[in-house]
Amino acid sequence: MKLLDGKVAIVTGAGAGIGAGVADLFCKQGAHVFLSDIDQAAVEHKASSLQSDGGSAFPFTADVRDREAITQIVQSAVTKFGRIDILINNAGVYPRQAFLDMTEEQWDTIQDINVKGAFHCTKLVLPHMVQQRSGAIVNISSVTFFLGMKQLTHYVASKGAIIGFTRSLARELGEYNIHVNCITPGAVETEGEKAVATKEQVAALVEGQSLKRRIIPEDIARVCLFLSTDLSSGMTGQTLNVDGGWVMY
Ligand SMILES: NC(=O)c1ccc[n+]([C@@H]2O[C@H](COP(=O)([O-])OP(=O)(O)OC[C@H]3O[C@@H](n4cnc5c(N)ncnc54)[C@H](O)[C@@H]3O)[C@@H](O)[C@H]2O)c1
Repeated sequence: MKLLDGKVAIVTGAGAGIGAGVADLFCKQGAHVFLSDIDQAAVEHKASSLQSDGGSAFPFTADVRDREAITQIVQSAVTKFGRIDILINNAGVYPRQAFLDMTEEQWDTIQDINVKGAFHCTKLVLPHMVQQRSGAIVNISSVTFFLGMKQLTHYVASKGAIIGFTRSLARELGEYNIHVNCITPGAVETEGEKAVATKEQVAALVEGQSLKRRIIPEDIARVCLFLSTDLSSGMTGQTLNVDGGWVMY
């Protein structure tokens, strides 16, 4: 018996990094996984490798800012399986930019992808979850919200918004048996991180952790799994640090 047998999940930003790790684990646990990503080649490649391993994986090219494109994913899931059990709001970007030089456009882009993207996906799956009287939504925030980070004010503000979004939604949706929780990853070894952090910076981050190893996408995926099953049925509105023991509050 697998933990997600027959469950239907949508994972955003599933072409690489944490989202790809979640898609991997969810397929292994028996879910039908709708992978969405702005990068067509990446999401198709990921889904076809999951299919080759026997996974039930469906790729979609979609920008989380594009309500129409997300609507098509939701409709496809409902047409095929009649339900949506899990939404993982993972797609996000974290380009470095000093606040003194930051433009309004750069600020807005980060809020649109990291916050409004989660708004669109959540709005579109909720009517189905409400009708089912069940559902699990896991939002990916970041421990940087607790720490503050220079050159990431736009990003850290967006990740704080995601924690507030999680808590308020959880209060509103409990009566429908919909669980809304949040993960705050630490420094995770992903394609996105490689593009912005040097080896020396990464070594310093690991030094700040209690566990002296890299946190990998599977570490985050396992907590997504926990928050998507009955193992966490008594929890909602919570935020879990998965950071090797970097932040302890
Ligand atoms: N890697 C880390 O250290 C770390 C730490 C804390 C939080 N996070 C969060 O985890 C999430 C995933 O990060 P990652 O490190 O795996 O990143 P990544 O860059 O490795 O992968 C992100 C994926 O999202 C896709 N994507 C980007 N913009 C998109 C959009 N507008 N619409 C749809 N898809 C889009 C990318 O194409 C990519 O495939 C992000 O929300 C990030 O903020 C990451």
